[in-house]
Amino acid sequence: MKKETLFAVVSLLFVACNTHSPSAGNKEDIDQYHDKQAENMVLRGHYLVIVGGCNDCHSPKKLTPQGPVVDSERLLSGHPATVPLPSLHVDALTPGHWMLMGPDLTAYAGPWGISYAANLTPDSSTGIGVWTEDVFVKAIRTGKHLGVDNGRSILPPMPWEEIAQWKDNDLRAVYRYLRSLPPIRNQVPAPVSPQDAAKYTKVISTSSEAMPGPAHRIASNLNRLTGSHQKM
Ligand code: HEC
Repeated sequence: MKKETLFAVVSLLFVACNTHSPSAGNKEDIDQYHDKQAENMVLRGHYLVIVGGCNDCHSPKKLTPQGPVVDSERLLSGHPATVPLPSLHVDALTPGHWMLMGPDLTAYAGPWGISYAANLTPDSSTGIGVWTEDVFVKAIRTGKHLGVDNGRSILPPMPWEEIAQWKDNDLRAVYRYLRSLPPIRNQVPAPVSPQDAAKYTKVISTSSEAMPGPAHRIASNLNRLTGSHQKM
């Protein structure tokens, strides 16, 4: 072996022995490396939840003059169980009409009945505390509640078809982030079929009861909400 080649081999060996790659390091290095990886997963999950719009539906809101604002103290805890639903026009439950959303955008009415955004915090009895990572991924990939093959379908407006196309690691990152949240006890009601809706909220059927009515009443509602005095 030439002198230069020997020198290069020895230098490489020296570098290899001194790197901090986890495979060559001691147990402390390996633990630190894994902690960092786990932390990065949670940060990525947080980012994906923000850009994926999960808070729009899954977080209760504070109602402000500027409109509903995410309540950071009840982040991702789903439709608040204790808030009564406003009355509901029967048309919303039949195809071809306007569909409706509750005031804080966590409850929805449409031809499927009434659906409520789920509690995604890690509370063990009312959230995803007992869900494994695989159950979470399977539910979103298959559009089946809790990922059960013959179970009920996940209802609108949960956009599972789109989220199902995310990469496996991204879905796992979202799960890890959700597991890092403070658990919030909030038993979101089970969805309700159109036939049963009247048992859970006042269902009204005449348009005069349901609609604000003439244009000037709509305008005055708008003024009240926006504080403006626009004329209609
Ligand atoms: C437009 C509103 C909306 C958005 C946006 C939304 N969800 Fe949902 N989500 C819902 C509703 C409503 C339900 C309840 C559906 C039901 O009961 O079948 C739900 C249910 C779920 C469930 C429970 C599934 C099951 O097995 O029952 C999970 C998990 C979930 N959403 C995760 C997410 C994540 C993660 C995001 C963001 C990437 C997200 N959702 C965005 C409305 C939404």
